[in-house]
Amino acid sequence: KINEIKKLYNPISTVSLNQVLNTTSPNLPTEPTKIKGWIKNIRNQKNISFIEVNDGSDLGGIQVVGNKDAFHQLKHGACVEVEGSLVMSQGKTQQVEMQLQSVKQIGECPEDYPLQPKYHTMEFLREIAHFRSRSNTFGAMFRIRNQASMSIHKYFQKSGFVWVHTPTITASDCEGGGEQFQIKHVPSPDLPPPSNLQAGQEHHFFGQPAYLTVSGQLEAEIYALSHSRVYTFGPTFRAERSNTTRHLAEFYMIEPEMAFIQQADNVDIAEDFLKSIMRDVMENCREDLEFFDKKVDPQLLVRLNKALDRPFVRLTYTEALEILTKQQEVVFENPIKWGDDLQREHERFLTKKYDDVPVFVTLWPKSIKPFYMRENQENPLLVDNMDLLVPDIGELIGGSIREERYPQLLNRIKELKMDEETYQWYIELRKFGSAPHGGFGLGFERFLQYLTGMKNIRDVIPIPRHQNYCKF
Ligand code: 4AD
Repeated sequence: KINEIKKLYNPISTVSLNQVLNTTSPNLPTEPTKIKGWIKNIRNQKNISFIEVNDGSDLGGIQVVGNKDAFHQLKHGACVEVEGSLVMSQGKTQQVEMQLQSVKQIGECPEDYPLQPKYHTMEFLREIAHFRSRSNTFGAMFRIRNQASMSIHKYFQKSGFVWVHTPTITASDCEGGGEQFQIKHVPSPDLPPPSNLQAGQEHHFFGQPAYLTVSGQLEAEIYALSHSRVYTFGPTFRAERSNTTRHLAEFYMIEPEMAFIQQADNVDIAEDFLKSIMRDVMENCREDLEFFDKKVDPQLLVRLNKALDRPFVRLTYTEALEILTKQQEVVFENPIKWGDDLQREHERFLTKKYDDVPVFVTLWPKSIKPFYMRENQENPLLVDNMDLLVPDIGELIGGSIREERYPQLLNRIKELKMDEETYQWYIELRKFGSAPHGGFGLGFERFLQYLTGMKNIRDVIPIPRHQNYCKF
């Protein structure tokens, strides 16, 4: 036992708060403990004072009880090292507290600190994005974000997937949406221009135009056709002109890609994947999720539990269109007809209709979907794909079976007047040892919105990037 405690309390002679707050009485160390963190709260009584110190590892802070004089120069927000003995607390809100022996100020915090201990709007916190991680909401958010990342890796690793690092810089446009950022080399003005550059010719560092990736899917397909089950987890970039609460210019995407699967498998795997990571996060971040349920969205846990307990709804696009066009309850701002993409109001209507349970919409018109989707066997106007819709956010997952037949893919690329040379390698994957395969992409930030009830996608990523905003 003694050794265990020593190990727990003496990693680098300081302790993380999370370890302390979860300690039970018989395991409290007898020797003094040091904690480093930021002051969240100061309360003064007649002779004694209480400060609350938080180091980001837990929602709560440790209450440190000391003589009033010991704290008199400290201000809210200052970074401190406190040392003292840990005791079981008499207070209702915490289990363990510290009886102060000494306190050292590591970094002072003058009074113009923007993160004062009071209610701040999300808009204000976004303006001070370099401090917002010290607030309760963002502290909780980024612990959940970390756990969700780990749960995702855990799910794939235990299911035999190989993580593949697809490039950030690419020559292709996976989604064909014209939302790519082109990469430009800015040479120093002191350097002579490259010798092979002719007058008026644009200099391409890579010898050809290059872009930030909009999806790692095409490159992941290479590895699915050698390692069978792979996944990507990395940043993706889209020049979204829409200033919405669910679009970022830089966001993280998780893209599993699997050989030997068909349409129904893809949908089943997406449901199992989502439910498994939701369960894992809910088990490991209980306190932080309860915080969001209390402070951000009172229906959050009810909604998440409902999604876990029930099978997700499955509709074909044609069935969804029938529901949307026949319903009499709502007058849509954008009336919809077969062949149109779903707008946010249509997505909302569908998730509401099914009592907030996520809805898969499958088999969409080929004409509005990217070139790589496999034509449906029974109806060539459709593709074998799916979108998963969730309440408020709309599309959370998009995926499909890929066109794995050489002539059909080549035809489609020609039909869409795409540059054959750029996609030569992709076409060749169909010529040499092709296999049926498919996968999907989960938008990580939209998933975090779904998990926490946060309304704006800019508040679930450490440093947001969107139109007209590239601070830091
Ligand atoms: O539906 P999308 O465009 O699908 C793909 O990129 C496929 N290549 C995925 C695949 O099959 N491997 O995007 C997938 C998901 C969306 O459902 C959405 O959750 C998220 O990525 N997403 C965004 N998230 C934040 N900001 C944006 N601008 C996003 N665009 C898409």
